[in-house]
This record gives sequence, structure tokens and C-alpha cells, in this order.
Amino acid sequence: MALADCRIVDLPKIQDPRGNLTFIESRTHVPFAIERVYYLYDVPGGAERGAHGHRTLQQLIVAMSGSFDVILDDGRESRTFHMNRSYYGLYVSPMIWRNITNVSSGAVLMVLASQRYDESDYFRDYDEFLEAARNSR
Ligand code: TYD
Repeated sequence: MALADCRIVDLPKIQDPRGNLTFIESRTHVPFAIERVYYLYDVPGGAERGAHGHRTLQQLIVAMSGSFDVILDDGRESRTFHMNRSYYGLYVSPMIWRNITNVSSGAVLMVLASQRYDESDYFRDYDEFLEAARNSR
């Protein structure tokens, strides 16, 4: 898996004078069955989240409110995605290290995930991640 597999997904947006509506369906708008949803909120100014990688987990990250930057790194190159629209999702493939920075006040960051929480799927150490990324190529 590489950074090239990660991409912005243009989610459906039903425009309506009463307010817009976006929906996400398993396997249609994300290439996996959604097993878990979690969200980050009340993030204090200057706080950074992420700083880990996953062995097998796939995710879609959506800025439900506010904005933030997601820095993705496959061990060879990195790319920053600025997220600030709730009709865009950022698909993150397995074997990607991610850092989340510049979280705006009041931002809500929703993550759809392909598996339930499993600590053994995490890389918490960057050097360990780099080694595994190298070996998986
Ligand atoms: P973590 O994934 O490290 O958060 P972030 O990447 O946003 O900085 O998770 C933080 C803590 O929350 C960690 O102790 C594990 C726990 N957690 C769960 O119990 N279930 C979950 O689904 C998630 C995402 C985290």
C-alpha cells in the first residue's frame, strides 16, 4: 500500500434550501464495510492527534465541522490534505502513518473504519512503522 492509494472521495451532496445532506454507504463511497465510527471533538488549540499507523485498517476521515490538516506518510513520501468540507472524505489505506494538526476551534473529525478497535493493529512507533513499510514493499 502506498500514498497513491489515499485520496479525497467526493461524497454525494443533496442540496436543498432547507440544508444540505450527505450520505456514505459501505462499499459504495468507501471501499470497505463500515465496522466502526468514531469522532474527535473538543480538541484544544495546538493539540495534535494521530501519530500512528495501522497494519490493516482502512479509514475515511471527514471534517464534519471546522477544519484540520491530515499529513499522510507511507515511509517514502508524505502529503498534507486540508480538510474543511463535510462532503469530502479522505480515504486512508493500510500502512500509512498519519498526523492530524491545525485543528480549528470547534472542529469535529469523524472517522469511518473497516474494523473494530484493535490495539494490535496499531504502529505507535515511527521507526517500527518505517521498518514494516520497507519490508512490505
Ligand atoms: P488513538 O487512536 O490513539 O487516537 P488519535 O489517533 O485520535 O490520537 O486513540 C486514543 C485512545 O482511545 C486510545 O487509548 C485507544 C482509544 N480508542 C478506543 O478505545 N476505541 C477506538 O475506536 C479508538 C479510535 C480509540
